[in-house]
Amino acid sequence: MRVYYLQERLKGFGKSDGKSGDFAPKHLHVIGAGVMGGDIAAWAALRGLTVTLQDQNVERIAPAIQRAAAAFKKKLRDDTQVRFTLDRLIPDPSGQGVRQADVVIEAIFENLEAKRKLFADIERIAKPGAVLATNTSSLRLEDIATALQNPARLVGIHFFNPVAKMPLVEVVEGASSDAVALKQAMAFVRKIDKLALPVKSAPGFLVNAVLAPYMQEAMRCVDEGIAPEVVDEAVLAFGMPLGPIELADTVGLDIAVAAGKELAGEGAVPPKKLLELVAAGHLGRKTGRGFYTYNQGKPAKQAATSVPAGLAERLVRPLLDAVQRCIEQGVVADAELADAGVIFGTGFAPYTGGPMNYLKEHSLKEHKV
Ligand code: NAI
Repeated sequence: MRVYYLQERLKGFGKSDGKSGDFAPKHLHVIGAGVMGGDIAAWAALRGLTVTLQDQNVERIAPAIQRAAAAFKKKLRDDTQVRFTLDRLIPDPSGQGVRQADVVIEAIFENLEAKRKLFADIERIAKPGAVLATNTSSLRLEDIATALQNPARLVGIHFFNPVAKMPLVEVVEGASSDAVALKQAMAFVRKIDKLALPVKSAPGFLVNAVLAPYMQEAMRCVDEGIAPEVVDEAVLAFGMPLGPIELADTVGLDIAVAAGKELAGEGAVPPKKLLELVAAGHLGRKTGRGFYTYNQGKPAKQAATSVPAGLAERLVRPLLDAVQRCIEQGVVADAELADAGVIFGTGFAPYTGGPMNYLKEHSLKEHKV
């Protein structure tokens, strides 16, 4: 019941309040046809929008269109529908679509100067009422926004990987983001059938800020000699959809190192095994080896031996602490939204009603468990 209610609350963010006018985006322009941009574009086309997809040249756009075609075929089955959907996804190497788009999402390399230059150009040619958004995971919105004549126009629309599977999208408010632009961004997110979570600009926003210390703790357990299978099994039994070690392998261990540096807090020592694996070029699923070895994308796991008492609580604790910090710092407006964000953004054991609800019910806060 609570998860249903939380979902309804998130859906409410995309609804018109009658004040900011009805925002009914029809045309999305995406810049950067990589892992994220390509999949965001495909998803929006599947949801009925006209999408123009820009990258540095056609060769960089082609793989995204191929990926989309395969996904549409699988999802729609009907050849005519596949054709119509593909017709809505338009390769646009010269970026003509910016002029007509209702929403422009930037998903290029994580490089501040490149993003600043791009937004200065976009602002000059986009429609005055278009929403201008970045998908950045780690750059400060404020540092990008100052490249615009009107920094208030920039908001964050932060998708998760894989786009087609993850229901949550964080809508990020920078220090100067315009309230109407934020509402329109949330209406767009709802329009493409995702759940918008309003968050304030802060390192890792909500979801990555709570996942990073949790994954670091899991890797520290491996450093102490606990088998990855046992670590993963402990939280699977707790109700998570994926163990933290397999999650790290899936995200990519190079990204896990970078995120750890940024989000694990000052002075935090990176897990030893993680650094060893990265130094040896074992970056997780994408290179076929990380904490696990992968065969056709599947990890070869030994059967987990018995899970030590208290291991699940130890692993979940840093996540719970991080959620509380995010609420205290105002990254999310209240505990309920934090629960919604962590359930829909990480898959946190839904039966608990979310981390804050779990804390309340188990009084873990007072270390009674
Ligand atoms: P990627 O490396 O797969 O793709 C980036 C694309 O941008 C490349 O195809 C590149 O040719 C293109 N590009 C670079 N400069 C350009 C320019 N000036 N004009 C047009 N195209 C340009 O990168 P990925 O992983 O898709 O990340 C993109 C953004 O999304 C980053 O800001 C990242 O922080 C963010 N993000 C990434 C997630 C992930 O799991 N990979 C998750 C959520 C956000």
